Amino acid sequence: MRKQIVAGNWKMNTTPEEGIALVKRIMELSTSVPSDVEIVVSPPFTHLYAIASSIKNSRIKAGSQNCAAWKKGAYTGEISVDMISAAGASHVIIGHSERREYFNETSPTLLEKIKLALSSDLTPIFCCGEVLEDRDADMHFDAVKVQIEEVLCKLKSKEVQKIIIAYEPIWAIGTGRTATPEQAQEMHSFIRKIMADKFGDDVANSISILYGGSCKPTNAAEIFAKPDVDGGLIGGASLDAADFIAIAQSFPQ
Ligand code: 13P
Repeated sequence: MRKQIVAGNWKMNTTPEEGIALVKRIMELSTSVPSDVEIVVSPPFTHLYAIASSIKNSRIKAGSQNCAAWKKGAYTGEISVDMISAAGASHVIIGHSERREYFNETSPTLLEKIKLALSSDLTPIFCCGEVLEDRDADMHFDAVKVQIEEVLCKLKSKEVQKIIIAYEPIWAIGTGRTATPEQAQEMHSFIRKIMADKFGDDVANSISILYGGSCKPTNAAEIFAKPDVDGGLIGGASLDAADFIAIAQSFPQ
């Protein structure tokens, strides 16, 4: 059975105080979520340690939104995987489209980050997804295939089994325009097929693939009902504890 996961990506939002209040509320409300659903929050680096400390004895897990592509040293402003892990995080988002677009992150860098994250026992949440022009030109499968092949297909089988994939069509991020459940399903099953062709069915069937892009309490259930959708990577709606928890309650029973 694949893990069902709801991960919040807070992006560049919340002060430390607001973040701690938010995660406390998420913790309180999480008692209503089935215990096999994994819940992850990804605050900004400034409050990662405080958040990870405050959730220590709870079911909630903490992740970072990025990590450095180097182990340690003279890289002013960067945060290493060892620091993230020592801060108490268990997950790290890698290759978010905003990192690719605004910080020019490319596949070789993302591959390096994934390897470093795994070496520090962090679970990478690897993001992929096409721009609107690709979808309009019916090139969305090709675009995502390249992203997967250039990074995940370069890993060893035992490494790839530790990864979570997030499919986030860029045209759906923060736009209020969600992929239809059918669009999500066909891409998730396409991604799983790429993994199966490279690593075999058992590995492919063990990897959780999350959907991200304007996922809300109103649309999560129909998206999560699809067989290859194993949860969501949630942006805006993860900043509201009640909405985030409502999404975590949206898995088919
Ligand atoms: P929204 O849920 O705000 O569309 O963001 C999705 C996302 O980018 C999560 O990483």
